[in-house]
Order: sequence, then C-alpha cells, then structure tokens
Amino acid sequence: MADRVLITTDDLENAVRINAALEQAGLDTAMVSSLDDVRQAVNGKEPAAIVLSGGLHETTAKRLLAAARDHAVSTLGLVEPTEDDPNEIGRELGLTDWLVKPADPAEVTATVRRLIERRRLQQRTSILGESSAIQEVLVKIEQMAPVTSTVLIEGESGTGKELVARAIHDLSPRRGKAFIAVNCAAITETLLESELFGHEKGAFTGAAERRLGRFELANGGTIFLDEVAEMAPATQVKLLRVLEDRTFFRVGGTQPIQVDVRVIAATNKSLKDAVGLGTFRDDLFYRLNVLSIYLPPLRERRSDIPLLVRTFTAEFSKTHDKQFKGITPEAMQILVDADWPGNVRQLRNLIESMVVLAPQGEIKPSDIPPEIRDRVRTLPVRITAPGREATGQELEFIFRTLIELKMQLEDLRRRMNDRPAERVEVIEVGTRDSGLGTRELEAGDPLAPNPQSPIPVIYKPGMTMSDVEKAAIDAALRETHGNRRKAAETLGIGERTLYRKLKEYAID
Ligand SMILES: Nc1ncnc2c1ncn2[C@@H]1O[C@H](COP(=O)(O)OP(=O)(O)OP(=O)(O)O)[C@@H](O)[C@H]1O
Ligand SMILES: [Mg+2]
Repeated sequence: MADRVLITTDDLENAVRINAALEQAGLDTAMVSSLDDVRQAVNGKEPAAIVLSGGLHETTAKRLLAAARDHAVSTLGLVEPTEDDPNEIGRELGLTDWLVKPADPAEVTATVRRLIERRRLQQRTSILGESSAIQEVLVKIEQMAPVTSTVLIEGESGTGKELVARAIHDLSPRRGKAFIAVNCAAITETLLESELFGHEKGAFTGAAERRLGRFELANGGTIFLDEVAEMAPATQVKLLRVLEDRTFFRVGGTQPIQVDVRVIAATNKSLKDAVGLGTFRDDLFYRLNVLSIYLPPLRERRSDIPLLVRTFTAEFSKTHDKQFKGITPEAMQILVDADWPGNVRQLRNLIESMVVLAPQGEIKPSDIPPEIRDRVRTLPVRITAPGREATGQELEFIFRTLIELKMQLEDLRRRMNDRPAERVEVIEVGTRDSGLGTRELEAGDPLAPNPQSPIPVIYKPGMTMSDVEKAAIDAALRETHGNRRKAAETLGIGERTLYRKLKEYAID
C-alpha cells in the first residue's frame, strides 16, 4: 500500500505544485487544512508524513505539528525565504525536516521519501523520537549499519545505548548472526577475561572444561561491550589486541584464535575523561572511537516525552490487558517537566507501574510518585481557561506549587540568617522619602554610593541607634568627600548638629 502524505493548504499554490509532484512519484496524497488534527485528517489511518506548505508560525500549524510529533508522524516544513535562519525555525518549531521556498518539487519528493524511510527504520528498531537529536542518531545508524567499523556509543544510563547497538546489528549484513552483549562492569576482572576470550580446560581452579568466550560465540556477528569504561587495565590490553588484528588467546591457551566480529562499545561515563584520569588507555579509546554516537539525556529532548508516554501507555495496557484511557494533560505536563535522571528506562518503568496501578484507567497527577513530581524543575505557570472552574487536580497542583515556593523562601531565609556574624549586611535606606529595601550591596552595584543615589548605611546585627547614626554620618562624609556642609544637608540635619555629633562620636 502506498504511503499516505498530507499537504497543508496554507500556501495553496505551493501545496498544489507539491501535491502533483508527490502523486506523480507514486505516493498517496491528500490536501488538508492546518486546522485538521492528524487523526481527523486521515480518518484513522495515520499518514507517513505531513508537508506544511506555509503559515508555520500560525497557532493551527503549531498545533498540527504537536499532534504529528505525538503520533510519530514526520513533518516537512516549507520555510519562507524571508526567515533569518531556516535551521533555527525548523528546530524551534519541531519540524522533522525543512526546505526553503520555492522548494524544488524533486527535492521535496526526495526529502519526503527519506522521511518515510526513516519512519520505517523507527518502526523496525523501536527507537522513538521526533527530536532532531534522535533523528540525527537514526541517520548515523543508517550510515554505520552497513560497515564493520567499531562504534562507540556514549550516553547516560537508560538513554537507549543497547537499543541503538541492536539496531545497528539488525540493520547490518550481520543481522542473521549472533548479537552478544557483555556487561563489563558486572563481572570481576579475572572472570571477564575468561568470559570474553574463553578458557582452556584446567586453565585455573574450576576450569573443568574448555569454554568458548563471547568473542568466539559472536563470530560472524556483533559483540556489544557495555560499560567498557569499567574494564580493568589488563583486559584493556587484550581488547586492544583483538581490535588490532581480530586474534586472541583463550585463558590458558597457546593457539591464537581468529574471529570476524564487529565491536560496538558503550559507556555512560565520558571515555575521554577516563583517558584523562588515566583509568582508560588512550590507544584503546581511539580504536573504539572510530565511529561514535552520543545519546542525549531525556531532559535535553523533552519534546519526545509525550510520544514516549503515549507509546508506552498503549504498549503496557495491551501487555497487561487493561482498558486504558491514557493520561490527563496535567499529568503529562508533570512528566514533560520532570528531571528523568534514569532517562527513557525510568520513564518506561514508571509508565508500566502506573498502567498497572492507576485506579481509574487513566494516569492522573496523583498517580505520579512524589519523587518524580518533586523533580519538576521549572515552575510551570498554569492558566485556567476563562469561564472554567479549576478542577480538584489543578487546585492540588497549585497548592503543591505554592508549598514548594514557601519551602524555597524559607530555605533562602535560613541561609541568609546562617551567614557568619562578621559578614556586613547593608540596609539600603532609600532616598529620604522612599521606602526601605533590604539587600546586600556588592562592589560595582548600581546602588553603591553616588551623589544622586540613596545613602547606604552599614548595619550589623547588634548595632545600637548611635552606632547606626555614626555609620550614617561616616557614609555621608565619604559620599561628600568630607564636605561637612553637604554631609549635613544630605543627612537632613543642621550643620551645627552635625558638628556636635562628630564630637560626640569622635569622628574627625
Ligand atoms: N528512543 C527510545 N525509544 C523507545 N524506547 C527507548 C528509547 N531509548 C531507550 N528506550 C528504552 O529504554 C530502556 C533502556 O534502554 P537501554 O537499555 O538501551 O539503555 P542504556 O543506555 O543501555 O542504559 P544503561 O546505560 O543503563 O545500560 C529500554 O527498555 C529501551 O527499549
Ligand atoms: Mg545498557
């Protein structure tokens, strides 16, 4: 069946042109308005891609784009030539790809085909995400799959390193052969060596039989060395040798063994830093880092979160045979704003537990564990639509936000009170008729002494009124460069009073 492509009619002239070109290329096309939701536009059959012919900054186009992202539908935007930076616009709007008008219909067709291919790739590999970060990862997978070069995958825990490694293997000519994963951190140094390279009978106590190592088992296929940064120095040397000439010795063996194995390594620490720290060999680093893929943490590609949430919710409600409505917008917002130190794995596990446990067949804010809710970093501003009462959940949300704010204020106050006593605090007295403001005065501060500005008076806890007065006179004299007449004027007292006070406080 031909892939369905929708073209928005915001720029009718271009839409008609592109529609004709795509139809001629054998695609099943339809022209729709930006007002149409993805689902409505196709009556249940989702398109493979949407071409937005114009009006990219319109709210309707933005809404369509968001719906497309949530349904994993790729988008191609036609950007006006008057835009300053089309790349910036494309990224900002969350388009999968973009071309500047007047776009060549052949180029549009080629781009749409590429997007459709990429979508198929995502379906095959289960790698979800419409963010440019994930799209770049997919391009790299496509490029790296056909060759045998070593790949290094870096990324925080749970960002999908193993998923990507498997995708490379599954798309490579080695797909029918073994994919063997070894976690280098989970096995002790001596065991790891025999695990990787195997051992001969009697090589060590307990080696009753010859055992083939993972490298031999992966022959013809791919070995995935997970958490490679944790590998002991002696094992690193042996791995280097394998990478150089694909030969090794079994533990206790004397015959070199030759294998044809593609190596994919992964690490959740920076391997370069490990080299800098001297815990990882630099020659091995360069051998592993022939091709590299970096998987950004989930908090840096939050636009993918709704799609991941929806997909995982649908998947787990099917697995657990649960009638599930989905997730409320408030709950979704909390998940989008959360910190996700455990990345996609943490999100996936949480969705599974919520699908099983959510009492009403729908994920609500109260179903989200507090540790996830408390990691909400930014303080989202919620505005209730006019004419609509806030729901209980929204009130709960506002209440929680206020409590958080109160706690932050209390913390701030505590920290200010905890300051060492000798630290000077400054009370800004304000122009003679203005109000008071308490703040700390720093060098270069615009409120530092200046004839036009208010007089700063130094105040330390424990000072008496006379201390304050003395400090005020000091400040006034400094400000007027010792001119007593002006100082008296600034202080709003008579010159004679100032002289008396100078004597009283022994200021000369
Ligand atoms: N982009 C993604 N789309 C869909 N699922 C994903 C994606 N990234 C990760 N996952 C899922 O998240 C879970 C963790 O992924 P994976 O095991 O590949 O992470 P990892 O980077 O190897 O983690 P670790 O460093 O802890 O070993 C898996 O269930 C995987 O399927
Ligand atoms: Mg892993």
